[in-house]
Amino acid sequence: MRIHVLDHPLVAHKLTTLRDERTDSPTFRRLTDELVTLLAYEATRDVRTEQVEITTPVAVTAGVKLSYPRPLVVPILRAGLGMLDGMTRLLPTAEVGFLGMVRNEETLEASTYATRMPEDLSGRQVYVLDPMLATGGTLVAAIRLLIERGATDVTAICLLAAPEGVAVLEKELAGMPVTVVTAAVDDHLNEHGYIVPGLGDAGDRLYG
Ligand code: PRP
Repeated sequence: MRIHVLDHPLVAHKLTTLRDERTDSPTFRRLTDELVTLLAYEATRDVRTEQVEITTPVAVTAGVKLSYPRPLVVPILRAGLGMLDGMTRLLPTAEVGFLGMVRNEETLEASTYATRMPEDLSGRQVYVLDPMLATGGTLVAAIRLLIERGATDVTAICLLAAPEGVAVLEKELAGMPVTVVTAAVDDHLNEHGYIVPGLGDAGDRLYG
């Protein structure tokens, strides 16, 4: 498992406004969308391509196109849905699967309530969208499911991560072909499982 924290002034600027409790829901949605596109640009650095030959109006030249099968994008409902448009703007031909997961707010354990994606992911490259990596329970369960179905390469795109959650992923997914791309790793998790300073509950701020 490797983690990549984006160090970019535009990312920091948008994240700062997202964190601000005065930011209303429409603005929060728009900023999430913009931030995801920046994160996705970095997260797709290793997207699989193949060589092609094309003819421009002037000459024949070599180029690249996305390999088949196309990447699978999996937003984790509900908050991950707010990241889907920003992602598919960069990868319009990606296939999209859905995973509904919810965290019990007392035990902080994640459970799956909906799965809608191909059974067989053999050899597939998968991008998981979830704004918050808090205790890590949700992402560990989601990524395990994808790898059990055959995915060979999983990249999770998160707006924010807690160091405790990153440590859980490093332990539970050690040696697996997993990358986490995030805009920031915050200070800590509080006793309610919220990222501090964080941005609150992303699902509620997007859709609450
Ligand atoms: C939040 C968040 C992540 C998860 C992170 O979802 O969007 O999916 O918690 O927590 P973890 O790392 O401790 O597992 P939530 O359960 O609130 O559901 P929602 O997206 O429907 O709001």
